[in-house]
Amino acid sequence: KNIGKFNFRIEENSSFFQLFSNTRIRQGQLNIRGKIAKTPLFMPVATRGTVRALTPSQLKEIGFEMILSNTYHLHERPGEEVINKLGGLHKFMNWDGLILTDSGGYQVFSLSNYRRVTDDGVVFRSILDGKEIFFTPEKVLEIQKKLNSDVAIFLDECPEYPCNAKREEESLKRTIKFAERSIKVEKNPGQLFFGVVQGGMNFKLRQECAQALLSLGVDGLAIGGLSIGEEPSLTKEVLLATLEVIPPGKPRYLMGVGSDILEYIKMGIDMFDSVFPTRIARHGSAILYNKGRINISNKRFKEDESPLDRNCDCYTCRNFSRAYLRHLFVCDELLGKTLLSIHNLTVLYKTVRALNS
Ligand code: GUN
Ligand code: ZN
Repeated sequence: KNIGKFNFRIEENSSFFQLFSNTRIRQGQLNIRGKIAKTPLFMPVATRGTVRALTPSQLKEIGFEMILSNTYHLHERPGEEVINKLGGLHKFMNWDGLILTDSGGYQVFSLSNYRRVTDDGVVFRSILDGKEIFFTPEKVLEIQKKLNSDVAIFLDECPEYPCNAKREEESLKRTIKFAERSIKVEKNPGQLFFGVVQGGMNFKLRQECAQALLSLGVDGLAIGGLSIGEEPSLTKEVLLATLEVIPPGKPRYLMGVGSDILEYIKMGIDMFDSVFPTRIARHGSAILYNKGRINISNKRFKEDESPLDRNCDCYTCRNFSRAYLRHLFVCDELLGKTLLSIHNLTVLYKTVRALNS
């Protein structure tokens, strides 16, 4: 019924908001195509149309309402045409929640050692077969339209860290030029377009970029190019400067950041994604609510009857001992990866949502 209508509501008089009224924390909800995702939210990463080792119902059971997938990977395999023919990404992967797709620009930088960025777009070699791929701002949106994700992200250029002022400026100019071309692409009904704020670690360039994107009329702002090797204190300063120029009505999505999330929520970030909880889970590393992490393969858990984390009520912690989980990892059994992924994602979910209950 709500198809085509997007709203983002900030609930300023919620108890959640009042509890933190001395900070810029926000509670709201994304309402896209009649589906709702409460914010702040964390998106598990489903790079190839699957959150590794987990079924969509397991994600639902934890509570997730939105996930992230990647334009570049789905373009390579199985190809957006195939997914489009089969009814779009939601149907293809059997996920009826919301889906945000990243544009692929960043993957080009992080995965490929051969790439050339021009004002026209980006040329790079496929990580699969080495053939040349050319992405333009229009092309990545056409792919995301074929996937029919709920939120599509513009092509951007993320400068490496550290880099000089000239590079910062050059990548910022290009990101804005890309955005000016992107906004002209017609959206699928109800689909949202988010622009990406770049500008290196330069406050002024960051603000200039955010303002340029806002004046183009983007539906929300993704903040990219952070947590790429800089000191966390610098990340926070850059972020605060950026947020200063973003009006409250626009959703703010901090790209690829999976640590210190509470601090960013308090600054006013609404959306997060990170491979961190699922990636470390597959290596046997469990996040604890209170104190750091443990690696479950460790000998000291051989006869440990207790759950991964006493403070956790996830499916894994309700039903399995550390000893059993260790056994699964020692034998490289698939179930171990699934169970630790459920636990770690639950910790992230609760971190982002618990304040809110
Ligand atoms: N994911 C993490 N960082 C970035 C970024 O700077 N740009 C894009 N497009 N995706 C990201
Ligand atoms: Zn747990």
